[in-house]
Amino acid sequence: MPLVKMNDLLVKAKAGKYAVGSFSVANMEMVLGVLKAVEETKSPAIIQIAEVRLKQSPLEVIGPLMVAAAKNSKMPVAVHFDHGKTFEKISQALEIGFSSVMFDGSHLPFEENSAQTSRVNALAKKYGATCEGEIGCVGGSEDGSEDIAVNCTSPEQALAFYENTKVDALAVAIGNAHGNYKEAPRLRFDILEKTASLVPVPLVLHGGTGIEPDDFRRCISLGIHKINIATATFDSVENSVRSAYSEGNISGYYDLQAAEVDGAYLNAMKHIEIFGCAGKA
Ligand code: 13P
Repeated sequence: MPLVKMNDLLVKAKAGKYAVGSFSVANMEMVLGVLKAVEETKSPAIIQIAEVRLKQSPLEVIGPLMVAAAKNSKMPVAVHFDHGKTFEKISQALEIGFSSVMFDGSHLPFEENSAQTSRVNALAKKYGATCEGEIGCVGGSEDGSEDIAVNCTSPEQALAFYENTKVDALAVAIGNAHGNYKEAPRLRFDILEKTASLVPVPLVLHGGTGIEPDDFRRCISLGIHKINIATATFDSVENSVRSAYSEGNISGYYDLQAAEVDGAYLNAMKHIEIFGCAGKA
């Protein structure tokens, strides 16, 4: 199965009433762990990296690796550029072969967010790629460097934003935030339901780490068809390595590498099951 467009996965997910996991990766081990789970469960998936993470994982190095891994997978996998901030890096990701890009203008005034997202969407379309936008403001930030307050999406503004930009997928803010939640999030299902009734494209839930399985399922039933998971992957990899050391299972570098792959694999397996996408490849 070749690298696929994210939109193809999301349109199928909307019709089939499930969500596709969009897993953030920082290195080859995480890519391999996610794709092992995807192949075992016969699931579609998205692998992604956010622009703020490129200082640790340079795009020109990890980008081709992600694209090659997706092309080699037996399952349909999209490669997504998450929280794009600059036209330059978004263009670079498209040149490398990413099949989807997000422009995150959620902090900008409505008109500017619309204008810049439309420009990114037009560029993405030249490459046959998918474009995701964001309206409202998801809390925190992808790498924890900023403590952005949640600003819940206005359903009417979401519709106007969709009409202005014609994005393929729209990230909404319903009380969700990036990173580990300090207290259990109370998601605004009413806002999600209203937004989904107005906006015809699949909606995206960021800040997946720490959301309860039942809340995920309710979000999916109300119109979420892409769910971003980052911190949970990183934590699972770290914990897997920690326990492999404490159990005396590491006696050389390749045991360490196997523990990393395993951490990413276990986290992806757990979320694929909750999102209902196993067997949907
Ligand atoms: P978490 O780190 O909370 O899983 O959020 C991931 C995310 O939304 C990436 O865009």
